[in-house]
Amino acid sequence: MTVGIDKIGFFTSPYYIDMTDLANARNVDPNKYLIGIGQRRQSVIPQTQDTVTMAANAAAEILTAADRAQIDMVIFGTETGVDNSKAAAIYLQDLLGISKRARAFEIKQACYGATAGVQMAIDHVFLHPNSKVLVVASDIARYGLETAGEVTQGGGAVAMLITQDPHILALDGQSAFHSDNIMDFWRPLYRQEAVVDGHYSTDIYIDFFNKTWNQYCYQTKRTLADFAAMVFHLPFTKMGLKALKSVVADADNANQLLHEFDFSTQYNAEVGNLYTGSLYLSLISLLANSDSLHPQDRIGLFSYGSGAQGEFYSGTIAESFDRAKLKRQVDRLLENRVKLSIPEYEKMYQSGLPLSAGEVTFDIDSDQSRFVLRGRHSDQLEYV
Ligand code: HMG
Repeated sequence: MTVGIDKIGFFTSPYYIDMTDLANARNVDPNKYLIGIGQRRQSVIPQTQDTVTMAANAAAEILTAADRAQIDMVIFGTETGVDNSKAAAIYLQDLLGISKRARAFEIKQACYGATAGVQMAIDHVFLHPNSKVLVVASDIARYGLETAGEVTQGGGAVAMLITQDPHILALDGQSAFHSDNIMDFWRPLYRQEAVVDGHYSTDIYIDFFNKTWNQYCYQTKRTLADFAAMVFHLPFTKMGLKALKSVVADADNANQLLHEFDFSTQYNAEVGNLYTGSLYLSLISLLANSDSLHPQDRIGLFSYGSGAQGEFYSGTIAESFDRAKLKRQVDRLLENRVKLSIPEYEKMYQSGLPLSAGEVTFDIDSDQSRFVLRGRHSDQLEYV
């Protein structure tokens, strides 16, 4: 039996800013953002979207009525949850009409949470082959206006259905992981923006990639030659490139891996960091945009969550994978976004649900997405 990603869906905000505009507004050479960081555009999240609505919009794309009845586990990976107690997965299950005979819960470990969910889902389906598990990764990346991290903001959600005999990627169960108490990025309970030691975080990312990659090679006896491509957690696209370059120098297939890396960054360069979803958007980007990959080709996946947890694992492309369909869906979503000026973005950025208590009603007619946040009343979030 094979187990893996049977369906995958993506959602991001209908609004974006251009990185050249942002650079000009911040008095920075645009090439720093476009080449040095490797980002072209960034999603801006309106007040009518949060991690729950984005996850619901991503998952609604892929689920049939039969899936909704058969799902017996909903795992929600996020570090920008909507409640300190209640899991976002419960709201999601309700919005999507998923069977109530399901386990529904949230996992947090910075950008790594959804990977823990995927690994748990694989084990669950191996034990219960008729199960289907919905794993979502949904986040809004915020560092603050006029900060060094601003160019690495963004947001969005990826939804994955994990089943037996998957139609996209069979996960082969080979995995290496590493964790340690590191203060590179965190978000105290009283803050909406992350605290980050930026350059330190990039060093730790590369260190954790090397540790998990070397451990994976030791465990599996595989080498770079066994991989057709690698995808990375992409807080910004240059980060993954640096990590890949730290291991490919002497590989015979170095050029091929670097070539495929370009495909795996196309969508992330348009969206920015979506924390838990970034690795899985990179996977979507590779699978939708590369025309040189074939069924059975092996893909490596590196997941990193600050604080810190890293994991390198692998899978092979399914025979029945439909590239054109995936590409159509994501291209359509990104092409239909509306560009904001920098003053419009700054206003939208500051307009979200406040941390302080109070009644809030948003203008939901401004957002045509299938699921939106209407506001907060009597301390309860209201979704439609
Ligand atoms: P910075 O200090 O503004 O940028 O912060 P810099 O001075 O390091 O420059 C960046 C690159 O641009 C450099 O290239 C420059 O040379 C180049 P590099 O040396 O790195 O190859 N550059 C130019 N290139 C072309 N033309 C020019 C030009 N000028 C400069 N004119 C930093 C950058 C990423 C640190 C900042 O944006 C930040 O703090 N971001 C947030 C933290 C982050 O994303 N960390 C990534 C690793 S941690 C992670 O992935 C986890 C995370 O997703 C959170 C989670 O797990 O929940 C963040």
